[in-house]
This record gives sequence, C-alpha cells and structure tokens, in this order.
Amino acid sequence: MSIEEFISRITAPANNQPGHLLQYLYEIQYRYSCVPQRAIQLLAEKLSLTESHIHGVIGFYSFLHDSPRGDYDVLISDSITDHMLGSRSLLDALCKKLGVVPGVPREDGRVTVDTTSCTGMCDQGPAMLVNGWAVTRLDENRIDNIAELIESATAVDQWPDEFFRVEDNIQRRDILLSDDSNDGAALRSLIDKGDDAILEQIEASGLRGRGGAGFNTGMKWRFCKQTEADQRYVVCNADEGEPGTFKDRVLLNAHADKVFEGMTVCAGVTGATKGCLYLRGEYRYLRAPLEQILQQRREAGLLGNTILGQDGFDFDIEIHMGAGAYICGEESSLIESLEGKRGIPRKRPPFPVTHGYQNRPTVVNNVETFMAAALIAVHGADWFRLVGTGQSSGTKLISISGDCEKPGIYEYPFGVSIQDMLKDCVAKDTQAVQIAGAAGFTIPPAEFERCIAFEDVSTGGSFMVFNQDRDLLDMVKNFAHFFVHESCGFCTPCRVGSSLMKDLVDKVHSGHAGHYDLDEMQNIGQLMRSTSHCGLGTTAPNPVLDTLEKFPQIYEKHLKHSSYEPAFDLDAALQDARDISGRDDAGAHLGTES
Ligand SMILES: Cc1cc2nc3c(=O)[nH]c(=O)nc-3n(C[C@H](O)[C@H](O)[C@H](O)COP(=O)(O)O)c2cc1C
Ligand code: SF4
Repeated sequence: MSIEEFISRITAPANNQPGHLLQYLYEIQYRYSCVPQRAIQLLAEKLSLTESHIHGVIGFYSFLHDSPRGDYDVLISDSITDHMLGSRSLLDALCKKLGVVPGVPREDGRVTVDTTSCTGMCDQGPAMLVNGWAVTRLDENRIDNIAELIESATAVDQWPDEFFRVEDNIQRRDILLSDDSNDGAALRSLIDKGDDAILEQIEASGLRGRGGAGFNTGMKWRFCKQTEADQRYVVCNADEGEPGTFKDRVLLNAHADKVFEGMTVCAGVTGATKGCLYLRGEYRYLRAPLEQILQQRREAGLLGNTILGQDGFDFDIEIHMGAGAYICGEESSLIESLEGKRGIPRKRPPFPVTHGYQNRPTVVNNVETFMAAALIAVHGADWFRLVGTGQSSGTKLISISGDCEKPGIYEYPFGVSIQDMLKDCVAKDTQAVQIAGAAGFTIPPAEFERCIAFEDVSTGGSFMVFNQDRDLLDMVKNFAHFFVHESCGFCTPCRVGSSLMKDLVDKVHSGHAGHYDLDEMQNIGQLMRSTSHCGLGTTAPNPVLDTLEKFPQIYEKHLKHSSYEPAFDLDAALQDARDISGRDDAGAHLGTES
C-alpha cells in the first residue's frame, strides 16, 4: 500500500478530523518507524493544518519522530525500580552486542536503543518496549536473545510470546477486585433507580478521585450535569504515567467491563453521549483486547444507541492512544492531546468539568474511580462507606515495587498503615518508601505507622520500597532527570527550575557540591512550588525537598566540605578547544600559568 493509500485509510473513519491528529501520527509512526515528511504533507492537506503545527505535535511526544528510528526501536525503562533490577547494565550489554550508541540509529537503519520513562511494568521489570510492545523480565539471557532476533531481522510478532507476557500480579483483593456482579448490573440499577438517585448514591458514598488529586467524584459529575451544553463528554484517564504506578494496567486487563460500565453510568447521570479512554502508549498491547470488549458491550446492548432498550440513552466509547508524555495525565493536557494538540496544560479555571473537550462539559476520572463508581451504583453508598476511614471511604489499589519479595497489586481499605503493607509484601530492612511516585513523599521508618488516606499519606497508587543497601540519592537523581524530560516547557519556573535542580542533584551525586548548593536546591524548589503553572512543576521538587528534610545524611555523605565549586566545569568545557589546537600543556588548562 502506498503512503497516500495508507493515510487515506487511517483518516477516513474519523472523517479527516484534525482533532484525531495524534491518532493518525501514532498509526503512521508504527508503520514507517517515523512520520515521514510526505505523510506530514498529506496530513496537512487533508486536515487543513499547517506542516509546522504537525511538526510541533510530533516534537512534543516522545514516541513520535520525524526521522527514522531504526526497524527495531528499543526503549529500555529508565524507572528507578528497573535500575535497581539492573536495567542500566542490560542497556549497556544490548548496545554493545548491537554496536549502537544509546539514542543513535545504527548506520544500517536496523535498530535504535534508547531509554524511556517508567513503562508501568515495575512489578515485572526490568522492562522495555520494542516498536511499542512491552517486553518484561529482562535478564542477560533475554537480552542475548533479543540481540540475535534483531540481527536476524526476525519480525517482532515472531518473537517468543513469553517475552511479552504481562502478569496481573494481584496479591490482595478487597471489595473492588473480589466483586462478581454481572456485566450490566450497574446500568440496570441506573435504569431502575434513575440518574438522580444514582448521583445521590455516588455523592453519599464519599468517593474521591483515585488519580491523585482526590476531588469528590459525585460533585464533579453534578457540576457537569448542571452545566448547560449541547454535548457533554466522559473521559477515562488511563495515562498512568506516575513512576511506580501500574494498577490501571491491571484493571484494564482484568476488569475493563467494570471500568467501561462506570463510564456509561457517568454518561447516564450527566447526559454525555460520547466517551473516550485515553490509554498510555506504553499499554499498546491492551488496545486490541479493549476494542474487543467495547464491541462485545455494543452487541450486548450495554453501549451504543438505546442502551438496554432505553430510548435516549446513547453513549459510545473510543480509545485514544497517548504517545509518551507524562504531562498528558494532567486532565487539561490530556484534553489538549485528545484534540490533536501538544499536551500543554490549560489555564484553570475554567475547569474541564464545565469547559473541557471541545470546550464542552467533560468529566475526567481515573480508571479506578470509574470502576468504584460502577460498583457503588450496584451495591449502594453504604456498602462503600463501610470500608475505609471517615474522610477516605472505600479501598485503594496500590502498586508495590522495589525491594520486597512480593511486588504487585494490593487492594487495601483506606487507613492501612505503611508498616502493614511492608509486612504483606515481605520487605526487609526498609530504609524508605516512596509513595505517590516521583512527585510524592519519601517516608522514613519513623513514619511507617502513618496510613494511606487522603487525610494522611495520599497517593494515586505508587509504593516503591528501598532497603538499607540503596543510596537514596540515586532515587532523587532519577526523579530529577525524569522531571527535566517530562516538563512540557511551557512555563519558566518548571522548565528552567527542573533543569537547574537536576544539575544540582548531579553535582551532589558526583561529589562536587557543598552546603551552598543544598541551599540553592531549597530556593529553587520553593520557587517551583509557588510559581509553576501546573501540578507537574509544583510537585517536581518534592523528592529533593522531602529528602533534604528527612534524609539529610544522604546528601551529607556526598558533600565536599571545601570552598564553593561552580556547577559548570569550564576547564572540561575547553577540552574541544584543546583537541582542535592539539594542546594539552598546563597553560591550556584553567587555573594554571600560561
Ligand atoms: C503531572 C500530572 C500527571 C497526572 N497523571 C495522571 C494519570 O496518569 N492518571 C490519572 O488518573 N490522573 C492523573 N493526574 C490527575 C488528573 O489531572 C486528574 O486529576 C484526574 O484524572 C481526575 O480523575 P480522578 O478525580 O478520578 O482522580 C495527573 C496530574 C498531574 C498534575
Ligand atoms: S509546570 Fe511544567 S509541565 Fe506544567 S505547564 Fe509549566 S512547564 Fe509545563
């Protein structure tokens, strides 16, 4: 098929909508290993967009490229828990075997090896993506096999199935994961009781968003319902980019029906007729099974027009793929992305619930929130409130990884102590737990009595364990680099602040920093917190500020107790000039006589 035919084929179903640009680019990327200039020209014509707009979108997303990446695009997860499992040496080994430098396509165009932010496989890492497909449990043996498969030009769909096995790893079930209600039960309850009664139940349940911010779900739905509009939307946020979080992956693999049912209940309550699941690009392998479930639901009358025979109850769901941008988990960036743009967070207010997708009222909820809402519609508010604490009703799914014997998914009633969780996952000699991902909290042993709850330690679901053998500064460094990579660059405090913070952390790590640098880290961190445009920038300094306060010893042991040393090594920067001039005498170095 020619590129012209291919582009006509992929753009036709959505009627050449510019809002679908990201989806078209995603399809093109995986067919041609990049988005070629010819494709950009064709899309620009078909969608009435400028080529520069399309280049801008490609440049924003890590998984899109306008120059070839190699037939095999290998991206090894750079998450801290994968580092702890040896991913760095596996990356080096693979590069050596294939004769490549990270990030640079091999001369014959066969392969590129690079790193990527957390792939959501921390319970079965080290992990990587090859042409977008997740490969888990890397070890030396698997790396050898992968190098051979690439050298022998074996198509990725011919690689052994076990390489792509992703397990659910559910270690503890509570009211959500053990529920066995039938498909459609929540919708039948909605039809029997009426949308007002169901909304009252969601409100009375005290359900709060499971994606991190903890906003009251019933209130969000009511705002959407009450806003005058010709169209409303329901969006499920399955971007799950927070390092160390993988519970939405498991819900979508094992309980997608309940998630879709929760979205449909939300549509029935708010009057929305269109829905979208925004699925992170790293979960490409889930797309086909999810499409199949959507189709089965249409055939069963649980989705589409006249749901369960109810006139006027029309709602359908599309899947949109993300393309490697953590910021697109932030709800307004996600909506920008859904509209085919760069995922730059919007100014808020107005909030998406009144001015969201296409400027219409839009409910954006996390995967787990929709599943909980579906089950509240079935069993009622009291059933939910019976579990958890006064301010945090129900349960929370926690993704546990790092130094423990039983990583995986644990569903706990809110109020569970960190201590009890560490016992359950068999963690020994724990030095610290990082909760709520890179932007979260570093908890020392003295605080292990604290509880997971909105009123105490609040989390979207990440729980990473670090034992006494770890240098916590490695973790801080990893997160500092993560934020530089993931900052969208829109506002100066975050764009520049995260970069300065990374340089300072690197300086401490390499043993060149003094107390002056620690003070600088405090200043920059506070500035980012108070002046950044969105939640990414305001929370990015958390790991540094938290560890400076609670783990000062991890900095002290790296500090240089002499006079101030500049962060920029001017002498090293002169190396190119020395090479060109062929000089390496004392006079060609700074701080020496000429
Ligand atoms: C940088 C950033 C990344 C986020 N990533 C996610 C995410 O991956 N998944 C998610 O559900 N919410 C994420 N959120 C929170 C969303 O903005 C939003 O609050 C959430 O989707 C609302 O759903 P909930 O009320 O059900 O939690 C993120 C927020 C920020 C600031
Ligand atoms: S805080 Fe960071 S991610 Fe948010 S808008 Fe500013 S630059 Fe972008």
